[in-house]
Amino acid sequence: MWQVRWVLKPIVFLACLIPALHLALGALNAAGLPHVGNVSLGADPVKVMLHTCGRWTLNFLMITLCMTPLRDLTRSLLWLRFRRMFGLFALFYVSLHFTVYLLLDQSGRLDALWQDIVKRPYITIGMLGLLLLIPLGVTSTARAQRRLGRRWIQLHRLIYVIAILGVWHFWWQVKKDIREPLLYACGLTLLLGYRLWKQRNSTARVSAARFARTDGA
Ligand code: HEM
Repeated sequence: MWQVRWVLKPIVFLACLIPALHLALGALNAAGLPHVGNVSLGADPVKVMLHTCGRWTLNFLMITLCMTPLRDLTRSLLWLRFRRMFGLFALFYVSLHFTVYLLLDQSGRLDALWQDIVKRPYITIGMLGLLLLIPLGVTSTARAQRRLGRRWIQLHRLIYVIAILGVWHFWWQVKKDIREPLLYACGLTLLLGYRLWKQRNSTARVSAARFARTDGA
């Protein structure tokens, strides 16, 4: 359908860029450079940039994981046409998150990054999530999917591990109020639970069909 490719997809793509655009305008403003609009990132722009990119990484991971249940619920394949885009946006926002952390928070010092990876477990977990997302991004093309066959499906199941690491990373850094990471954890449990339930159902169906065949033979 040309409408999906040429109208809906570009609209969704531009909508996904809004948080990054907002941050870019705020950063220009904070740096005192000529800016468009009046976007302010408050007293601590680096922290706002870091947190916004982290949040959107997690949001895009969750949105990506929602596509298959939505396909099943609505019986429409349309959702799957957006899955790759959302997954790549998760990679895009985690790359920004990491860049802001390394260049602005740690002033580009790789030794400070290493110290943090070793000393702060939530950074270790976040780093693992970022490293695992890279092979998924690299193999997200239709060509890689064809070349890898079944292995592609197995590799892309890593998205569940990455989402768990992301929620864990978030949970581990909050000091008192765990309501927001808890909300993400509940959403992720539902999504994982749905997948497990579906897998059990299809295994039961296959066994029943096999049993019926051997019984009839
Ligand atoms: C899949 C990977 C990742 C996800 C999903 C993720 C997500 C998040 C989220 C949701 C937050 C909290 C935002 C808020 O409080 O509003 C956050 C904060 C943060 N993340 Fe990540 N992150 C990831 C990877 C990383 C990596 C690779 C690093 C650095 C090496 C990192 C460093 C930080 C730091 C320093 C904070 C702020 C902590 C604070 O202010 O106390 N994250 N991240």
